[in-house]
Amino acid sequence: MKLIIEDKEKIADAISEVFLKTVTEKPDCVLGLATGSSPVMTYQKIIEKAKERKVSFKKVHTFNLDEYLNNHDETQSYRYFMDHNLFYGIDIEKDNTNFPTEENYEHYDEMIGQAGGIDLQILGIGADGHIAFNEPNTPFDSKTHIAKLEEQTIKDNSRFFASEKDVPTHALTMGLSTIMKSKKIVLIATGKNKKEAVRKMFLKEDISCPASILLSHPDVTIYADEEANPNK
Ligand code: GLP
Repeated sequence: MKLIIEDKEKIADAISEVFLKTVTEKPDCVLGLATGSSPVMTYQKIIEKAKERKVSFKKVHTFNLDEYLNNHDETQSYRYFMDHNLFYGIDIEKDNTNFPTEENYEHYDEMIGQAGGIDLQILGIGADGHIAFNEPNTPFDSKTHIAKLEEQTIKDNSRFFASEKDVPTHALTMGLSTIMKSKKIVLIATGKNKKEAVRKMFLKEDISCPASILLSHPDVTIYADEEANPNK
């Protein structure tokens, strides 16, 4: 697992380059996408650079990591987030963009496999070490499933909602084994509330820190800013 320390803008620059290289080299690649504040600047850079360099996403398929369950506000859905932060800015076909739903989640891993497997997966990390919505103590062999959100995660994500009680209590999420099948993984960790999670993920594989499963993946790069630098 590689660790790169950079400021937020350089992180977004570097990861947008990895994305565009993947799409340029393999125009029908499969991308695994994340929501949250961590990838927002990366998505902006992808939009700008794809326009400049005329990179087409027409043949690209995407699979998002997760989606809220029983969410009553469409504007808080991860589909809405992706449409507004990335999809509307590039020429991707809506039919090629996938999210776990109550109808498809039991087949989501198979759907990813049938599309050829994820070539590049982008991840954020929760303050408690979660990736996607795999909270602490999620089995390492988990597939796409329904997860109950921890209190800490509900608190953290309430900043996007009118109040904490509006945050859904459950979500559909790729499992840890689903994520581990990705060929290449990049993870963004910025801000001081991520430092402890990053420190823990480098210690040893332990289900109390779901992100630590990445230690045994052959191609993972962690991009952290100074505030989340575990060695400081
Ligand atoms: C959410 C998402 C995760 C995301 C994490 C960090 O719970 N389900 O996929 O990585 O929070 O979010 P942020 O990037 O906003 O800090």
